[in-house]
Amino acid sequence: MIEKTLVLLKPDAVERNLIGHILVEYERNGLSVLELKLMKASSTLAEQHYIEHKGKPFFDRLVAYLTRSPLVALVLEGENAISRVRALNGTTDPADSQDNTIRALYGKSMSENTVHASDSTESAEREREIWFG
Ligand code: CMP
Repeated sequence: MIEKTLVLLKPDAVERNLIGHILVEYERNGLSVLELKLMKASSTLAEQHYIEHKGKPFFDRLVAYLTRSPLVALVLEGENAISRVRALNGTTDPADSQDNTIRALYGKSMSENTVHASDSTESAEREREIWFG
């Protein structure tokens, strides 16, 4: 099934000039960029994005991180894009990510793990609305 998914190249990616390096990984795996923008996220936007983590001990840190400098928001499209992009990204903690995943290659830590991708059809729709609605 052709799907669309919402991806963020988070501030640590942009700060370290990794935009191109990361986009190459998606594009050479057959995923197409449908929408893309460089922007500095507001706290409101970051809080909406991470609403499911509200109340957790790391929530404030997550919002501070996502808003500290510009990020790239994009929509990728392709066959089974949601699961394929998450496989390309690797696990949440870069230390556990399989070799050659984006987080194994570039992730700094559990909190600064370089990329985000929607985890389901519902979250892809919700997150696309937040960032591109
Ligand atoms: P992401 O996939 O963007 O979505 C939720 C984020 O919460 C996740 O990346 C991690 O960066 C962060 N996260 C999840 N669990 C923890 C944790 N235990 N400590 C710190 N950050 C976490």
